[in-house]
Amino acid sequence: MSGTEERRENTGLVVYSSKTGNTRKLAQGIHRGLEDALGEGIRIAAVEDNPDPAGSAWILAGFWADRGNADQKALNYLKSLEGRSVGLFGTLGAYPDSAHAKDIAQKARDAAAEKNTVLGCFLCQGKIDPALTERFRSLPADNPHAMTEERMKRHTEAAKHPDENDIASGVSACLAMIKAVLPGAAN
Ligand SMILES: Cc1cc2nc3c(=O)[nH]c(=O)nc-3n(C[C@H](O)[C@H](O)[C@H](O)COP(=O)(O)O)c2cc1C
Repeated sequence: MSGTEERRENTGLVVYSSKTGNTRKLAQGIHRGLEDALGEGIRIAAVEDNPDPAGSAWILAGFWADRGNADQKALNYLKSLEGRSVGLFGTLGAYPDSAHAKDIAQKARDAAAEKNTVLGCFLCQGKIDPALTERFRSLPADNPHAMTEERMKRHTEAAKHPDENDIASGVSACLAMIKAVLPGAAN
């Protein structure tokens, strides 16, 4: 194999869906961290640009949580992939170790797993659109979505993310996911 071919096989794609910028920030941090670890030439693109997966040894796809699922643009892209090795990352308002987060991760995994191999999923919190927080605040106390002290605490914590620790954890998690499909890996 020539050097050029080797390099091409080594490349991957980071694609992300982001409404308010949290997942874009995480994606850019992961991309930077991966290039530091693996070398330059890794592609990064917004899902709206519908990046061609051809030639990518692996794909890392980012989503944001939207009403109990991964967002629709990310789901559509995941479902368009075939025969790929796909790692997932995402941001959400809920705590990443909550049952809600696990449920959303599973839905993203299921969408990707239809025609691909899923390598894993990394989640962290992302600040919640203040307009949404306000909407919850305006609900009457007997509404199931009404703002409670515990919910407000979660929104306040989410407002600090994704931070540098989240990005460092995302880089480590994504490196571990793609390790299995890097050239030279025992598999
Ligand atoms: C319309 C809407 C729906 C949301 N639904 C959920 C949800 O079901 N679960 C959750 O944990 N967070 C939810 N969030 C919070 C976002 O997932 C979170 O703020 C995320 O980081 C946004 O990512 P982005 O900045 O990349 O768009 C929602 C936010 C909005 C605006």
